[in-house]
Amino acid sequence: MGARAKLTVVGAGNVGASVAQYAVEKELGDVVLVDVLEGIPQGKALDLAQAGPVHHYDSRLVGSNGYDETAGSDIVVITAGLARKPGMTRDDLLFKNAEIVGAVVEQVAAKSPEAILILVTNPLDAMVQLAWQKSGFPPQRVVGMAGILDSARFRTFIAQELAVSVENVTAFVLGGHGDTMVPLPRYSTVAGIPITDLLPADRIEALVKRTANGGAEIVALLKSGSAYYAPAAATVEMVEAILKDKKKILPCAAYLDGQYGVKGLYVGVPVKLGRSGVEQIIEIKLTAEEQAAFQKSAGAVRELVDKLKL
Ligand code: APR
Repeated sequence: MGARAKLTVVGAGNVGASVAQYAVEKELGDVVLVDVLEGIPQGKALDLAQAGPVHHYDSRLVGSNGYDETAGSDIVVITAGLARKPGMTRDDLLFKNAEIVGAVVEQVAAKSPEAILILVTNPLDAMVQLAWQKSGFPPQRVVGMAGILDSARFRTFIAQELAVSVENVTAFVLGGHGDTMVPLPRYSTVAGIPITDLLPADRIEALVKRTANGGAEIVALLKSGSAYYAPAAATVEMVEAILKDKKKILPCAAYLDGQYGVKGLYVGVPVKLGRSGVEQIIEIKLTAEEQAAFQKSAGAVRELVDKLKL
């Protein structure tokens, strides 16, 4: 690695361009944007570079339709693929996005054999599993963004409900990034106080439901695409934790090898993110009910992975 870290973002659409924007605003490194659309990654890279003088960053930005420019990346974020339209679930994207992500990963892995891959394309957990297999990378270097976004949504709703700062709110969401995700109110707190002490059960239940439906709520509003500001912000938190070796505990889609009773599958759990990638899977005690919900969620991920014959 040179003096500056190198970040490649594949897919220069809504999420990818926002990842590039947030990353250079934090001066996390130089950024290569890749997309199949001619001119789009080049144009967005140039536009973002020209925001640098105003927003005080010196990161270099390059756009490309190929992978030569990506060689030697420290981190590759993959957002390439189709986004949801109203009425679609994330799972509806499975086969088309598997084709795209599979092809992207092969090219990325060949050019940047030491990179850490962060997957964003949906259906998330299945795409991470696919990327891990296609790359041949160790599981520590292939990880998916989902839990930070899901818990950021939960945190937003909790803060609004209690009229407190979002900064005071931590939230815990486990499981796959889909309808079966498992928000854990017991471990979700306001200034350290569990929300189970602050809110009645029916209000918590309503916020949990809204969180699980958080992506669909935005798809229904936007009509022609899915959420991207919060997904990009969540992704950049992972990029920063890795490049700065922060050892930050964050919920991510990580490879389970027996933890939480799941073996050989990517599912959302708390992990420690540092310069080596997923440095530890954090196991927390679950109640029987929470464990059952987690197993159900892992089962839903397993079904998709089986459909892809991985
Ligand atoms: N290689 C590179 N880029 C590709 C490829 C490919 N093979 N196929 C598609 N793309 C690009 C598209 O050209 C488009 O610019 O991926 C980009 C996707 O951008 P958007 O359509 O704006 O979608 P976005 O909202 O960014 O979501 C991307 O992230 O959150 C998930 O569910 C979401 O799977 C979706 C992904």
